[in-house]
Amino acid sequence: MRVGLLANIKPQIQNQAPRKPDESKRSRSLPRTATFSASYNDIYAEWDAPETIEAVRLALESHPDVEVEVIEAVPDRAIDRLLIKDFDIVFNLAEGFTGSAREAQFPALLEMLEIPYTGSGPLSLAIALDKARTKEILSYHGIPVARFITSDVPITSIRALLPGTDFPFIVKPISEGSSKGIRNSSFVTSLDAMNREIERIAMEYHQPALIEEFLPGREFTVAVLGTGDKARILPIVEINFGELPPEANNIYSFEAKWIYDVAEKPLNIFTCPADISSKLQDEIETVVLRAYEVLECRDWARIDVRLDSRGRANIIEINPLPGILPNPEENSCYPKAARAAGLTYEAMLLSVLKSGCERYGIPFKFEPKHAK
Ligand SMILES: Nc1ncnc2c1ncn2[C@@H]1O[C@H](COP(=O)(O)OP(=O)(O)O)[C@@H](O)[C@H]1O
Ligand SMILES: [Mg+2]
Repeated sequence: MRVGLLANIKPQIQNQAPRKPDESKRSRSLPRTATFSASYNDIYAEWDAPETIEAVRLALESHPDVEVEVIEAVPDRAIDRLLIKDFDIVFNLAEGFTGSAREAQFPALLEMLEIPYTGSGPLSLAIALDKARTKEILSYHGIPVARFITSDVPITSIRALLPGTDFPFIVKPISEGSSKGIRNSSFVTSLDAMNREIERIAMEYHQPALIEEFLPGREFTVAVLGTGDKARILPIVEINFGELPPEANNIYSFEAKWIYDVAEKPLNIFTCPADISSKLQDEIETVVLRAYEVLECRDWARIDVRLDSRGRANIIEINPLPGILPNPEENSCYPKAARAAGLTYEAMLLSVLKSGCERYGIPFKFEPKHAK
């Protein structure tokens, strides 16, 4: 089976943890849509490092029937290559670059060319990247989410705009992932701080902010594998905020990912499987599978969940293209959950491929070998 591995490859400069902004080193080759402030550091945060793409290629090729060709998901290279239409299926990791529907662009093209591909479709990808739209849809279906407003209107009184709520709030970009724009200062306890954060997001990310009620409880992230009736939950990961330094707010921020958690002194930031009661586990699984179904996710996704002040599981956001760093020490949640389920990195990715093949009726024999 010929598999096209479609991915955005992170430029070398971004291979290490982000560095402090350095005016003198701003590259002229960055696209015009790029922002040139603190976000310069995280502009490619969602893209995959060459080592990750190579690990995915090797994992897929560990199956004797699979032959992989890597396709760089940039228009001038990928479109001509895909037009040849000689792949049985595309393994889609393309994050895209421009526009708020960037993750949906290649899946839409693949549909136009009638090339099968793994993962969610363009509509799900575009909605999931807009955290406000996602929450509107989830709440329509009765799935708990934090109450929110967007900064499209000037925020002069939060209580007038969101009656019944009170500080603290969290302020984040509407359409980003990988902790882009989520800093320790995103947790706000005053109107002034809220407006400063809205301004920062407008300056650095050129988009409105989402102002959400702060969910104060435990936080989990949940990997889902499969589609429809076959979708299953992998062991739940809990984020241990107790590992963060005392000055840090309890959010999984840019600082938590890149500044407090460093290779020389790694934090034990995730517990998997989470130590939770079977009642809470059932509640989280139910809400996650409902969200997965409502957004019509396919093959795989990772969904963030946090408990509100009453202890109820709320959905924070849905990641239909989850991060998949191959090295266990790098603390990547989807592979961590897969390992806890007994799936090797190879078995995890081949299971995603198998789920995709099944949807299109493409014959592909694979039974996961379980890790020790
Ligand atoms: N409404 C909220 N209440 C409490 N914490 C939140 C809320 N929204 C986001 N967070 C915190 O911020 C982190 C990042 O937010 P998230 O929307 O998941 O962004 P990203 O796409 O960067 O992962 C979450 O993991 C959580 O710790
Ligand atoms: Mg998240």
